[in-house]
Amino acid sequence: MLTSMDKLVALCKVRGFVFPSSEIYGGFAAVYDYGQLGVELANNIKKAWWKAMVQMRGDIVGLDSAIFMHPKIWEASGHVGGFSDPLTECKSCHSRLRVDHLLEEIDILADEKMGEEAINALFAENIKKIVCPKCGKNDFTSVKKFNLLVKSNLGNFTGDLDKEAVYLRGETCQGIYVNFENVLHSSRKRLPFGIAQIGKAFRNEITARQFVFRTREFEQMEMQYFVHPDLEMIEYEKLRAARWQYYLDLGIKEENLQWHKHENLVFYAKEAYDIEYNFPFGFKELEGIHARGNYDLTQHSTFSGQTLDYTDPISGEKFIPHIIESSVGVGRTMLAVLTDAYSEEEVDGETRVVLRLPYQLAPYRVAVLPLSKKENLSFVAQNIAQNLRGSFMVDYDETQSIGKRYRRQDEIGTPFCVTVDFDTLGEGEAALKDTVTVRERDSMKQERIAIADLEEYLSERLK
Ligand code: GAP
Repeated sequence: MLTSMDKLVALCKVRGFVFPSSEIYGGFAAVYDYGQLGVELANNIKKAWWKAMVQMRGDIVGLDSAIFMHPKIWEASGHVGGFSDPLTECKSCHSRLRVDHLLEEIDILADEKMGEEAINALFAENIKKIVCPKCGKNDFTSVKKFNLLVKSNLGNFTGDLDKEAVYLRGETCQGIYVNFENVLHSSRKRLPFGIAQIGKAFRNEITARQFVFRTREFEQMEMQYFVHPDLEMIEYEKLRAARWQYYLDLGIKEENLQWHKHENLVFYAKEAYDIEYNFPFGFKELEGIHARGNYDLTQHSTFSGQTLDYTDPISGEKFIPHIIESSVGVGRTMLAVLTDAYSEEEVDGETRVVLRLPYQLAPYRVAVLPLSKKENLSFVAQNIAQNLRGSFMVDYDETQSIGKRYRRQDEIGTPFCVTVDFDTLGEGEAALKDTVTVRERDSMKQERIAIADLEEYLSERLK
């Protein structure tokens, strides 16, 4: 079990999963770039989510709404008025800190819905026990609630961001709510049905910590399920069960998952649970699953002046649908998947680092490695790699010793390595001509396979 983030952060940088943003300019806080392996892993995560959420469900359809939306949407949703975190500043080192996180460190639960006065009182009550995590001093400013919405000047030529502010979306689901009627009528769906979307969201997080766990630009995978009010809690329990199973199917170890029930709900919510993952810094929220009542459509109906209700085609009953949602970040899923997969073991007196990624998520499914850089070996190996590329993401590597190349593929989680040697060329044992060695990552077992059967063999093993 990985207990420190340092090793994972280093591996992600060195191997090309995740890079700090704008690094040559000294970096840009709380924003990350996904490198050549990170983009493959993220794409595989999104594909798995889309398959479970849309492809395998006749009752859920997809959407890709714009990042920019009418500013009134963020008033209706409550984000302009209430989407804020409690902020304090250390008077000694000037670090800006989240007060709920400082209180959490001393086992006091501060509710994100608390007003400025209430959280100031709680902070003052406990201040003697709190020290700045950066400098260790105990001298803080009073608590201010800081709004997380990110403003832009899109279409605003006044030069004043406070006038006609347009926001980068703080969550993707608002695009789903405002398209409810469009999707309902164009898809001819009946309740219950859902709309799923994957896309970028932006939040001015005060303290962005723990690598890609909390960033200011991130991608969300959200599904909103529209139901009759009487069915809300039944469908909610079904969604909770489906989401738990999804993580098991993704290959996450069940002992690293747990439920966290929200005790203090916003006034409109019926129930809220998080699925937490056992990150190197402890169990923390991976995904939120919420029963939201009819708040969202009611708010958008009031603010837009459009009726957003549903008429049951059989009973004729008219009502505003209730919504249950599933919401999870791509980066946060990636961090959970990488933590779950990371392992170290002793092999021949050396430490072997292996990313035991589920095959379906591995950036490269196959690596083709000629035994040496000799031209005739390279020629055959390049051909094999190119032929396999029609079916899988394939890496090709001919530098350094074969042992080092195996280790490198282990570290990036490649399930199978195909080695081309002199036997393959017919220069060794005659029976091995036109065969290659296939090595499996976890067991390190090797098999000799005919080149003609290779694609079928790998497809079968990678299923
Ligand atoms: N629509 C509901 C919603 O956005 P949330 O709990 O604020 O709820 C849902 O976010 C999920 O989005 C989280 O469980 C997490 O996986 C991801 N997420 C939220 N803020 C994030 C951030 N700053 N960086 C990375 N992922 C984040």
